[in-house]
Amino acid sequence: MPPHTVLQGRVAVVTGSSRGLGLAMARVLGLHGAVVVLASRSDDGVAAAVGRLRLEGIAADGRRCDTGDPADVDALRDMALSRGTLDIWVNNAGTSGVYGPTASTPVDDFTRVVRTNILGTFHGARAALPVFLEQGHGDLVNLYGQGDRGPVAMQNAYASSKRWVRQFTETLRLETKGTGVRVHGMNPGLVETALLGKVTSQAGYEHRLGALQVVVGLWGQSADQAAQPILDLVTSDKAEYRFLTRRRLVTHGLHNILAGRLRRTNRMPLEVTVVDTDREP
Ligand SMILES: NC(=O)c1ccc[n+]([C@@H]2O[C@H](COP(=O)([O-])OP(=O)(O)OC[C@H]3O[C@@H](n4cnc5c(N)ncnc54)[C@H](OP(=O)(O)O)[C@@H]3O)[C@@H](O)[C@H]2O)c1
Repeated sequence: MPPHTVLQGRVAVVTGSSRGLGLAMARVLGLHGAVVVLASRSDDGVAAAVGRLRLEGIAADGRRCDTGDPADVDALRDMALSRGTLDIWVNNAGTSGVYGPTASTPVDDFTRVVRTNILGTFHGARAALPVFLEQGHGDLVNLYGQGDRGPVAMQNAYASSKRWVRQFTETLRLETKGTGVRVHGMNPGLVETALLGKVTSQAGYEHRLGALQVVVGLWGQSADQAAQPILDLVTSDKAEYRFLTRRRLVTHGLHNILAGRLRRTNRMPLEVTVVDTDREP
């Protein structure tokens, strides 16, 4: 039995939950009593994640779902409804683009980011909101990220997509005002997952990624730490959660320095794949 019951009787979907932050958020929701429905593009990845959560006493289910495909997303919604209800939907699935200038970004890479981060978020909202509106309650959480408040050079696809997610989320909040449905945005800060640890760079720009491990050493969190605020969001009217406030830049940075997280041996492993693009840097 989960140790806490505040979400008992609720069914929660978390997209992109075979690993990383999505899996950690599903665990938090499940440990507080929710039935959690997991998903990613990998059947094996979902099965393994569902198995891990069940071993921890969590009621978990899941299926393959590419959030870029609206039929997949609707099928995920229907799986959740087959568990009796749908109360929480977390649009977590996300991906980053190749690091480097926009002018030489491969078209298929930019499209891949848009398909998951933008269309995937729209597909999730479109699947969950009619159910929420019909029943007069429900919590939709969209994942923000670097760039949600302003431009980020060399990561235009990812950063612009997160700016879009913010605008989309704020618009949904206007459209659902007074309905009982709550729409939240969550920016977890820097989380030590594959998204940060396995990076692809355009040739000629990879040396600029050297600072990433230091930045993560200063302000990074584990997925389990970063996932905790999801509980507060889905049990409150809070519009937004943002980890990296000015105060935390100082306090968390100092804490990590004192904990020795900047030492080379303690840094997050970074795997950089370099790709040649068809234009010179
Ligand atoms: N890590 C950070 O520092 C950070 C910071 C701010 C915001 N975020 C946001 O947090 C979210 C989770 O990131 P993460 O760091 O946990 O990334 P991650 O470790 O790379 O995990 C991404 C998850 O999404 C799935 N996924 C990717 N594309 C998908 C698609 N088209 N359809 C369905 N599932 C898909 C992946 O599984 P498959 O590959 O098997 O599909 C995986 O389960 C993202 O929205 C990200 O932008 C992360």
